[in-house]
Amino acid sequence: MKIIAGNWKMNGSRDALETMVQDLASVKSDNKVILCVPFTMLGAKSGRVAIGAQDVSAHTHGAYTGEVSAKMIADTGAKYVIVGHSECRQYHGDTNSVVRQKAELALANGLTPIICVGETMDEKQAGKTMAVIESGVRESVPADVNTDIIIAYEPRWAIGAGLTPTSAEIAEAHTLIAKTLSDMGLAGTPVLYGASVKGSNAAEIMSISNVDGVLVGGASLKSDDFIPIITSVK
Ligand code: 13P
Repeated sequence: MKIIAGNWKMNGSRDALETMVQDLASVKSDNKVILCVPFTMLGAKSGRVAIGAQDVSAHTHGAYTGEVSAKMIADTGAKYVIVGHSECRQYHGDTNSVVRQKAELALANGLTPIICVGETMDEKQAGKTMAVIESGVRESVPADVNTDIIIAYEPRWAIGAGLTPTSAEIAEAHTLIAKTLSDMGLAGTPVLYGASVKGSNAAEIMSISNVDGVLVGGASLKSDDFIPIITSVK
């Protein structure tokens, strides 16, 4: 069983989500399907699809205009929340320590955090990919958790760019993440790959060892693109 998670980013509508949920209802697959949607779409009927948010406040409650707490997300019936996505790190300045705070609040409220790590192009070119990934995992993952978290490796330079690392690069990154998690007492934590996943490369990516599923951006918006990813692997 693989985990196929979609990240709609700032796209879609409640109608589009309803259509997607209907389209996915008849798909024959044992894979776990998650859709991480904008806050306004949380709480919609979602059938077999688990729903997640895309970010969460690092605060519990109070005078933080515009923010949404983990408790509020859980209150909608959502089960997951992405934390530390590349775009939140880039545009909102989320650091590993903020990401960790968000993940802790998610866990405290019964949500499974999908914690994203990955290197920028500058970091890749400077030969820092492995160091960035390892520190991302060590510093963003809360201590003393059970395995109720998911990690997503998203090479930041490849997101939305139609670029993907080579299979060897993905394997190297995922092996390091699995080893780091194991060192932290979190062996068995699922690790997803994300960045430019589509129907034509999903099966190959998910055949790489230590790749437990995918986190899909653009290709999760339309069922014609998303369903082939879900059905590409058993
Ligand atoms: P794309 O699949 O559009 O490259 O986006 C990946 C991503 O950021 C998923 O969180």
